[in-house]
Amino acid sequence: MTEKRYFIETWGCQMNEHDTEKMAGILGEMGYQATDKVEDADVYLLNTCTIREKAEEKVFSRLGVLKKEKEKRNGDMIIGVAGCVAQQNGGGIFERAPYVDLVLGTQALKQLPDMVGKLHGHQGRQLNVAKDPENHLFPSHVPKRGTSIRARITIMEGCDNYCTYCIVPFTRGRERSRPWEDVVEEARRLAGMGFKEIELLGQNVNSYFSTVNFARLLREMNDVPGLETVRYVSPHPKDFDREVIETIRDCPKIATNIHLPAQSGNSRILKRMGREYTRELYMDKVYMIREVLEGIPFSLTSDFIVGFPGEKEHEFWDTVTLLDEVGYDRIFSFAYSERPGTGAVKHADSVPQQEKMYRLKILQQHQLEIQKARMQARVDNPANVLIDTVKPGEEYPLVGRTRDNLLVHIKADVGEPERFYGKAVRVRVTGTGLHTLRGELCPEPIEHLWSQPNAPEVTTV
Ligand code: SAH
Ligand code: SF4
Ligand code: F3S
Repeated sequence: MTEKRYFIETWGCQMNEHDTEKMAGILGEMGYQATDKVEDADVYLLNTCTIREKAEEKVFSRLGVLKKEKEKRNGDMIIGVAGCVAQQNGGGIFERAPYVDLVLGTQALKQLPDMVGKLHGHQGRQLNVAKDPENHLFPSHVPKRGTSIRARITIMEGCDNYCTYCIVPFTRGRERSRPWEDVVEEARRLAGMGFKEIELLGQNVNSYFSTVNFARLLREMNDVPGLETVRYVSPHPKDFDREVIETIRDCPKIATNIHLPAQSGNSRILKRMGREYTRELYMDKVYMIREVLEGIPFSLTSDFIVGFPGEKEHEFWDTVTLLDEVGYDRIFSFAYSERPGTGAVKHADSVPQQEKMYRLKILQQHQLEIQKARMQARVDNPANVLIDTVKPGEEYPLVGRTRDNLLVHIKADVGEPERFYGKAVRVRVTGTGLHTLRGELCPEPIEHLWSQPNAPEVTTV
């Protein structure tokens, strides 16, 4: 009997990418091998995102291509839809794409073996979009992680915020947090396997609570031997309190890029969005971060939505001026996309599509000017970089990230690539692109990784 093979295609956020690692682990335990060729896949899963309408449309157009592949094989192929489109549309997917065999909701990953088994047993199409509030307690040895130095750990799932534009609370359910001991145990095991960077995941990662709060979990993570960096995504501004920022200040392994998604710079629109802060309260967070992290290199990033229903032109300009007031190192900005079932659907005063795109362009161009100046200010300064890629023979053979999450391409005489892979090095910044830095290795030793006291030992060159 030939080996069965699977292919998983992933859209969406880091949580979806990690869910793919979980499904890959499950299929591996069932005896399936991974393939990167569509024509070899016995099971083809789309792990999907529905955050904006376009993301959802991509899924259905991809399914159209897979339908042809299935027809070529006279139906001998399992096509599955997992992730947020599956959770949101449920059995509606079978109506729109009747050749789909499997619809697997975001809380049903553990049911995958049973469902695939039933499909092999010709028991008809399989659907599971049921709520399983314990789905976040996933066995930590199962996920099949890649070969990089980075690993992801789910610490919480779901969102209770119900921002009025957002579909996530509907696709991921209510907030649930994993016991902190489980998280730390998983981190220790991964560090023991050689992973150097851990990214903690949650739809609302800093509202984590399981006998200890997020700040305390970060302190525990900072003590995991062998790790160099701990990142986390996606945070909410309301949960960045002084305790979290002081923890970042005190713990050298915790990343210093502060993602503070504002969404808008206008207090009336923020209220309509259900964001629980005004522009002034948001700025108070920014001032607090600047005060507590004084002397430590950190970056500030944000997400924005333009053209939310009822956003007047002058209210949009409040978002533009917020960019100046904060001075973000990077932003991720989107035109508002109406999502079915969300609170904002009731607003009739939508902004025309063309106007939304115009506002988006203005915002992005404005940010680029700010960003150019901020990146330029880093030239000639030192930076500590954790190397995650070594490409011998290239002009800039070392690639890595700073503690505040900037990508750096480094000139170096590499020699043995193992000397650098997964190690921290000291770099002098020599130039910039729009989102990346260029640098060269510094000869002097680094006393402290990420310029902090009590830092872990660092490899120097
Ligand atoms: N939990 C994260 C959000 C994840 S979604 C948070 O609270 O920050 C990532 C980003 O997508 C959001 O920050 C928002 O800027 C954008 N987004 C979410 N819903 C959207 C919609 N309906 N239209 C346009 N952008 C949206
Ligand atoms: Fe969506 Fe708001 Fe929850 Fe973020 S906090 S996932 S934007 S509802
Ligand atoms: Fe998309 Fe679901 Fe993540 S909608 S952004 S895949 S939580």
